[in-house]
Amino acid sequence: MLVDGFGRRHTSLRISVTDRCNLRCTYCMPAVTPKYQAKSLLLTYEEIIRFTRVAVDLGVDDVRVTGGEPLVRADLDHLIAMLAQVLDPSRISLTTNGVLLLQQLPRLTEAGLRSVNVSLDALDESSFEHSTRRRGLSMVLDSIHAAVDAGMKVKVNAIAKRDFTESQLAAFGHFANRTKLPVRFIEYMPLDADGNWDPANVLSGSEILRRLSEHFGPLRPLPRREGAPAVDYKIESGGGTIGIVASVTEPFCQACNRIRLTADGKIRNCLFGDDSGDVRSLLRSGANDQAIADLLKSAVAAKKRGHGSDDLVFVRPSRPMYSIGG
Ligand code: 5AD
Ligand code: SF4
Repeated sequence: MLVDGFGRRHTSLRISVTDRCNLRCTYCMPAVTPKYQAKSLLLTYEEIIRFTRVAVDLGVDDVRVTGGEPLVRADLDHLIAMLAQVLDPSRISLTTNGVLLLQQLPRLTEAGLRSVNVSLDALDESSFEHSTRRRGLSMVLDSIHAAVDAGMKVKVNAIAKRDFTESQLAAFGHFANRTKLPVRFIEYMPLDADGNWDPANVLSGSEILRRLSEHFGPLRPLPRREGAPAVDYKIESGGGTIGIVASVTEPFCQACNRIRLTADGKIRNCLFGDDSGDVRSLLRSGANDQAIADLLKSAVAAKKRGHGSDDLVFVRPSRPMYSIGG
């Protein structure tokens, strides 16, 4: 139903609930706190749910809640509980930096959340602080372990950045072997607020694999799940799973099934490019569901074939990552 001009069916919706964050990752946020959106410009939970219902009627069956950092928005468990009325709770997940997860875990599980992706770039405090410009590694690790103990499906996402991530590979390999949690490396994309991205700052997925296999021996590719941007590998010697999201060196646009709703109510049909529809204006001007559905369909129809990795060199983000939603 949400099929674009290249035959891609859109079934996955990423909902950003805030542009605020309690970390300042160098590849995402500026060092100095940016001017955040006024709260009155953010969609309310009721508005988010109204949009989500329309999207689900059009075939969306998978929702990820993101930010900024979604857990800094008040009562996020309420939104999760409301979403769980709209779609299968096993198809709802949360992307978080994990700092506030431990404390909110009981409410989130109670609301029906079953799955979290925790962003974690480093396994020692000084590298963690270098990447996030804040301290907090032990809280993130405690959150991860508590989420596992609470029965959640947990994945760990790490940035793949040149001159930084190399030093973390062995530690993450051991972490993956020990915990059996999948660890995914995401190639650094040109979505940083500071505009410092350069192709030379990307640590490629192929280099990560080469370095890991030098350390751990062979990595065996696992069957790729359809539409999944990550390619997963098993570390044969230790049993851990390492994933590679080669968003820059091997863009997966041809399999993209994603649409995004920004915290201020804009549709984005791609991380790159511009906003592709203003849901908030529609919602706040008394539009009916059909008008919202039409806007969503036109945003999908307008989707471009992709962003070639060469083009990325010339692309500057119209919004940095924290204000789109990862
Ligand atoms: N390149 C790649 N990944 C990014 N993220 C944020 N900014 C970037 C970027 N410039 C990732 C975070 C987190 C997810 C929400 O998005 O590491 O895992
Ligand atoms: Fe916050 Fe995530 Fe951006 Fe880091 S990557 S500053 S945790 S929104």
